[in-house]
Amino acid sequence: MTPHPRLGLSLVRPPFARIDFHRLFKWKHRVRSVSHAAQGVGDCGEDATAGQYAHNGEEHERRGDSTVTVEINSAGIWDSEAIADVAAATFPLACPPGATQDDIATFIDDVLSAERFSEYLTDPCRTVLKVTHQGAIVGYAMLIDGEPADPEVARTVSLRPVTEISKLYVLPGNHGTGVASALMDAIVERALAADCAGLWLGVNQENLRAQRFYQKHGFETVGTKTFLVGSQLHHDFVMQRAL
Ligand SMILES: CC(C)(COP(=O)(O)OP(=O)(O)OC[C@H]1O[C@@H](n2cnc3c(N)ncnc32)[C@H](O)[C@@H]1OP(=O)(O)O)[C@@H](O)C(=O)NCCC(=O)NCCS
Repeated sequence: MTPHPRLGLSLVRPPFARIDFHRLFKWKHRVRSVSHAAQGVGDCGEDATAGQYAHNGEEHERRGDSTVTVEINSAGIWDSEAIADVAAATFPLACPPGATQDDIATFIDDVLSAERFSEYLTDPCRTVLKVTHQGAIVGYAMLIDGEPADPEVARTVSLRPVTEISKLYVLPGNHGTGVASALMDAIVERALAADCAGLWLGVNQENLRAQRFYQKHGFETVGTKTFLVGSQLHHDFVMQRAL
């Protein structure tokens, strides 16, 4: 697939098992025929204007040098270090203002280290998608297939089979550019190919930007849960989206 000049996006099938040949073929065909384009400010700051995002790049004309070209692929164990770096840089952005530096650091060490990512990347229930811009990873998502581990969440989330978006993080310089939307589209493609009926996630109740992003992508709040960061209990909304 030739990348679009503004956001050339190629999706490579993540390595997951439950796809029959017919579905696999259809999915690969659909992915190959899609161009993803984002208009907006590439390499911009946190307060950049949110870009538009379109599936048909051919319909959009290039506007100046405000371009972002990304690839989205499934990550491999060789990406553990690089993804851990992005995770350490972006996790604090999702924490509420009251979170302490010590608790954040503890969480990063315990949950987001390269060693932990190498475990995630070899877990058959998990898929990590990486977003690459000019060879560098600028965002990632981790998906977990199957029944939610928390019984309360399992009661709250009504869709089955379901996949959790356990992590979805983009480096600040790429916020508001359409990169996160491209990642969400890849997540949806992957979930559809795996015959999922829905997606669910937890998002901090003070993380209004992420909530707005998920709402834009069809998620609705269905409950609440708590989430331990270091020694502090954080309060999340549980959101789900039917596919
Ligand atoms: C969450 C994330 C992936 C979304 O990507 P993004 O590029 O910022 O998303 P978008 O710009 O497309 O959408 C964000 C929306 O929130 C809005 N927004 C921005 N700041 C906001 C705020 N303080 N309060 C409410 N809405 C806000 C934006 O205007 C935009 O809405 P719009 O398109 O209707 O104008 C990205 O911000 C990120 O990686 N954040 C840090 C990590 C994180 O919080 N991850 C989620 C963990 S659950």
